[in-house]
Amino acid sequence: MKQEIEKRRTFGIISHPDAGKTTLTEKLLLFGGAIQSAGAVKSNKIDMHARSDWMDIEKQRGISVATSVMGFRYKDFKINILDTPGHQDFAEDTYRTLTAVDSVIMVIDSVKGVEAQTEKLMEVCRMRNTPVICFINKLDREGRDPFDLLDEIEDKLSINVRPLSWPIGMGKSFKGVYSLFESSLHLFEASRNKVMEGIKVDDITDPQIESRIGENAATELREEVELVEGVYDPFEVNSYREGQLAPVFFGSAVNNFGVKELLDCFIQIAPQPIPRATDKRLVKPDEKDFSGFVFKIHANMDPRHRNRIAFVRVCSGKFERGSNYYHVRQEKSLRFSNATAFMAQERETIDEAWPGDIVGIYDTGNLKIGDTLTEGEDGTFKGIPSFSPEIFREVINKDAMKTKQLEKGLQHLMEEGVAQLFSYEIGNRKVIGTVGQLQFEVIQYRLKNEYGASVDWRNQPIYKACWVDSEDQKELDAFVKSKLRHMAKDKDGKMVFMAESKAWLGMVQDNFPRINFHYTSEY
Ligand code: G4P
Repeated sequence: MKQEIEKRRTFGIISHPDAGKTTLTEKLLLFGGAIQSAGAVKSNKIDMHARSDWMDIEKQRGISVATSVMGFRYKDFKINILDTPGHQDFAEDTYRTLTAVDSVIMVIDSVKGVEAQTEKLMEVCRMRNTPVICFINKLDREGRDPFDLLDEIEDKLSINVRPLSWPIGMGKSFKGVYSLFESSLHLFEASRNKVMEGIKVDDITDPQIESRIGENAATELREEVELVEGVYDPFEVNSYREGQLAPVFFGSAVNNFGVKELLDCFIQIAPQPIPRATDKRLVKPDEKDFSGFVFKIHANMDPRHRNRIAFVRVCSGKFERGSNYYHVRQEKSLRFSNATAFMAQERETIDEAWPGDIVGIYDTGNLKIGDTLTEGEDGTFKGIPSFSPEIFREVINKDAMKTKQLEKGLQHLMEEGVAQLFSYEIGNRKVIGTVGQLQFEVIQYRLKNEYGASVDWRNQPIYKACWVDSEDQKELDAFVKSKLRHMAKDKDGKMVFMAESKAWLGMVQDNFPRINFHYTSEY
């Protein structure tokens, strides 16, 4: 078991859309021999121009199951890449997927630098101290000065950086990278399929460098490397693993350049599956008993059958197909005879899985996001919070004859994590919250197609959903009583205050100093 665990690297690639996440994923799979040619990985981007074409969204769901988890082998390592939706309307899905990884590779566009979505994703990584490696992409373009980019990463992402490779020129004059990690020179050649072997040099003073890139470029490289060594502390693998320091690589994913160096370093420094906390204790991966949690649920593509695939991250022990496992929330034992692993583009039935692996389990409605499975032990894995949505709309049932169907449909879609449902304390009002506009269209479409229910939306002027609690039960009671019209319950029955504006929330906070207001459901 120890060996199996040491071999595993489970990580996510994240980026602002268009920085090159899909391209990098594809190149990594090429190295692993998991795919044979470029272009095999479908982008999971939703084309906003084709938005009215609902089939696109449906197709999208198919693609995102196929590429949700891509496992491959490389140099005796078993690597699991967890894909995250590129579209920001699906940010919540990305946040949840990040709870199931042990580390992250963040792709940054050298022309655009740190973008809005990069910042948000980094915040999520920081919540759990997830180790991050940065890959600065598109060096074949006239990008920004590398020192400026590093400063921007430190500044906007609040993390220390340490370059492990350094670019020689950029754009038209891009000559390659010097690897500070293994003292080697990698010369650039624009080619989508060829990978050039690095040239081993003794160190930065090696005269081979002149002969390869010319005197001027060599002098400039030496000056810059000297500056790098002077400005940044030596690379400390533990600071990286604690999420305090981000090693940085430079390259061009589309040209397959800098990707192999990234991967070779990644398998050496990235953490193997790490211990994870439940609400009872810390669970170590090498414990004998199996445990895992559900971080994603995907409805089956066939609307006639309501079965779903639950994605389970194995946290400890060995998962065996056909075994009974204990469903902690429902306090009952379930048998999982149908389990799949995800190897690159294919799904295959598996008999066993190890910590770090993701198992797909067919489910007919027992599992929800955040559920824990064990061999009988109580305790739920922590760290899968809901975040306050940004857009809120009340559900208007257009067909009273289909109320039951609507309720069932809403329940299923919420269990899949498509959006969050808030049920008001008064008046039986139901409000759905999302991070993006697109989900409302998806929900409306799916309710109609899969459940036969018709809904409309009524905009709600809500600024934030705040989960509330207090040590002072009296004050909590008084608060709830005075704000009853704005109180709702979330999917787990937790109390939420629906604040209508920032200013009003501030006032309410002043009036009730002993109430805690949280922007996430886990506090
Ligand atoms: P994403 O998943 O992060 O959204 O980005 P994706 O990989 O789809 O890449 C976005 C665009 O950037 C693609 O161009 C891709 O080819 C390009 N790209 C990726 N890496 C590099 C690079 O190193 N250099 C340059 N110059 N471009 C790069 P596209 O026009 O959308 O698609 P395509 O027609 O090129 O496939």
